Parts: sequence; structure tokens; C-alpha cells
Amino acid sequence: MLNVKIMDVKFKHSDLKLINPPFESKLADFIIELDYLRKKPLGGTTHPSTFFQLKKIFHTLESIGSARIEGNRTTIAEFIETKIEKKETKDEKIIEIQNMEKALAFIDENIDKTIINRMFVSELHKQVVKNLIKEGSKNPGDFRKENVRITKSNHLPPDMSQVPAYMDELFAFINKENSSKYDLLKTALAHHRFAWIHPFDNGNGRTVRLFTYAMLVKQGFNIHIGRIINPTAIFCNNRDKYYKFLSKADTGMEVDLLSWCEYVLEGLKNEIDKIDKLLDYNYLSKNILLPAIDFSLERKLIIPQEEKILKIVIKKQVIQAGDLKNIFPGKIPAEISRTIRKLKDKNMLMPEKEKSRKYVLHFENNYLLRGIIEMLDKNNFLPVSKDK
Ligand SMILES: Nc1ncnc2c1ncn2[C@@H]1O[C@H](COP(=O)(O)OP(=O)(O)OP(=O)(O)O)[C@@H](O)[C@H]1O
Ligand SMILES: [Mg+2]
Repeated sequence: MLNVKIMDVKFKHSDLKLINPPFESKLADFIIELDYLRKKPLGGTTHPSTFFQLKKIFHTLESIGSARIEGNRTTIAEFIETKIEKKETKDEKIIEIQNMEKALAFIDENIDKTIINRMFVSELHKQVVKNLIKEGSKNPGDFRKENVRITKSNHLPPDMSQVPAYMDELFAFINKENSSKYDLLKTALAHHRFAWIHPFDNGNGRTVRLFTYAMLVKQGFNIHIGRIINPTAIFCNNRDKYYKFLSKADTGMEVDLLSWCEYVLEGLKNEIDKIDKLLDYNYLSKNILLPAIDFSLERKLIIPQEEKILKIVIKKQVIQAGDLKNIFPGKIPAEISRTIRKLKDKNMLMPEKEKSRKYVLHFENNYLLRGIIEMLDKNNFLPVSKDK
């Protein structure tokens, strides 16, 4: 232990309260812009079925981003393979990602009919740590029964005996009726406060990122207005920056809390702008879908005839058998129907609606998914950890 400087780590109470950013600040601009975005439904040109498939992929990316991944490219590839093959796994890293995915789905399903309270957060924590040993918890769903320290931080979280009261205060803070103009500030402040309390023995980071996702969805950043969000990208694409701003806010000083909020909301704004691009079908088909088909063809995952059909599907978004006549001049309708059926069996096409004879592109869980992920990666949609 020679020459090791022991950090001065102690608990210091600070109040949880709303703050008012100066009107001329960058933070105020982000709040105004985000407030506009959350109310404005996206008149997306992308077909809803494609949108929902993308949403699932983003849940996957959100989950991968939030789980700490060493050498994350390999893990992404491995994870996608387990999804494609629907394999069972005992690999902790994969289970951790699967847990996050399930928790996100749980939030989407329940957020409209619930308030974000102790029970809800307990459930999230249980789902986060389920079946994990190294990254699990001694008390899934329960607050910690021990005192903890946060690695590399000068802040000591409150004594275990104070955790329930601090958490109750936090829930009261987020659920209090204030003008909705404070919603985004509250979300950012609540994220820090949660991490600052560190209510669980482990899994605080993963749970607080879900908690933030839940708050944003509840505030209107959701599929009802045609939006996909991936807030983890803000925090996890650059962990050093995330921890730096959290540490700064640990002082409890208003200027540090304001800069924490600015960091969070600027990140959110950038992420939203990025994902919104995908819902512009022009962008999506040109940069992701068509190149993904080429990728699959090059890798011989599909044959040239399939490539031709899929490109027509991408161009039209919805097709019927008649649309394929031109590419198979000599073929009789029964043959075209058979070709469509084969593509359906291979999960590359799916009926637009149940029993419909119209079809749309299906790219999850089949050999188009690798190409889609590859193209999302090329266009910087994948979580990358800059601190590695
Ligand atoms: N200085 C700090 N002040 C407050 N919270 C912090 C600070 N540094 C880190 N944190 C929070 O603590 C989390 C780590 O806590 P914990 O190990 O319980 O969570 P985890 O989910 O297991 O890990 P991880 O977040 O790395 O996935 C970080 O993700 C971050 O949210
Ligand atoms: Mg941990």
C-alpha cells in the first residue's frame, strides 16, 4: 500500500430540489428543443412494421450498451447470434444483456398504467440482476443492507439506514405535480440522485438507466408519437465522461447540477436526432436496408433471386404477388406465390397484417439481421465505448 493516496471519501448530505437554468443558457435551449420534440408526433415515412422491428433492435442496442462490455464488438456479434439461433446460454454477459432487454420490454408494457415508485424500481432491479452471479445482487429488489463505496468516486453514498428515506424523497420528487417544463430537468436530476443514493448493493447503474428510460417514456418520448429512444448511449458510449459529470454533481452545488443536466439533455437531444433519421424511409432504405441486402448476398446468406425480390419489397415497403411479375417474366402466378411462401418461411417476408396477402420486409431473427447490424454499425448507431 506504499504511496497509495487514500481518497477522502465521506458522506455529505445535499438537498434534492428543482433548479432553474438561466434563460440564456445552452441548457435552457436543450429543454425547449426537447420539449418540442416530445410533443411533436413523427410523421415517419417508415412502415410501422419496419419501425417496430427497428425498435426491437434498438432495445437490443440499449441493452448491450448498458451492460458493461469488454471488447464489445465480439459481444454484440455473439449476442446477435444467440438471438438468431434462439439459443439458451449460461454466459453471464449474454444473460446480463437479455435481462436488460426484458426490463425494457417490461417498462414499455407497463409504464402507461403505473407510476414510477419503489415497487416499480424494485421490479426493475430484480429483472436486472436475475440469474447473475458476478454482476448479480445479494438482495434482488431490496435496498442494500450494507454500506457501499463507488469505485473511483469521492462521494460516499448514504448509510444503509438512510436509503429508504432518501428513495422515498426521490419518488416524491419525481411524482410531484410541477409544470411539465420541469420534466426533463427532473429526469436528469433524478438520475444523479439515484446514483448518489446508490440504493442497491450492485446493479445501480443498470437500474438507474432503466429508471431514466421509464421517466422519458412516461413523459412522452415513446412509440405513441413514433419515436425510439436509446438513452443509454448518452451514458455508456463514454463512461469516463458520464462518471466525470456524476462526480461533479456529487458536490450538490447548483452550478455542478446544472452542468450535469446540460450533459444529459445535450446527449439526449443528439441521440434523438440520430434515431429520428432512421424513421425517414429515404435515409433508412438507402443507408441501412439496401446495403444490408447487398451484404447478405455477398456473404451468400441469400441468393440473387431473393435479393431482387427483397429490393422490390424495400422500394415499395408493401408488396403483393402481382408486383413481382416483372422480375419473373415467364413465371406463372403459382410459382410466384411459391417463391413468396419460401421467403416467408425463411422469415424474410411477413404478411402486413394477419392473413393478409400483402407482405412487408422481415429482418429480425434471420439472416438479414447481421447485415442490418453491420450497416447500423457503419452509420454509427452501435454502442461504442470510447474509453476502451
Ligand atoms: N461519482 C459518482 N456519483 C454517483 N454515482 C456514480 C458515480 N460514479 C458512478 N456512479 C454510478 O454507479 C454505477 C455503478 O454502480 P453499480 O456497480 O451498483 O451498478 P452496475 O449496474 O452493477 O454497474 P454498471 O453501471 O457499471 O453497469 C455507475 O453506472 C453510475 O451510474
Ligand atoms: Mg456493478
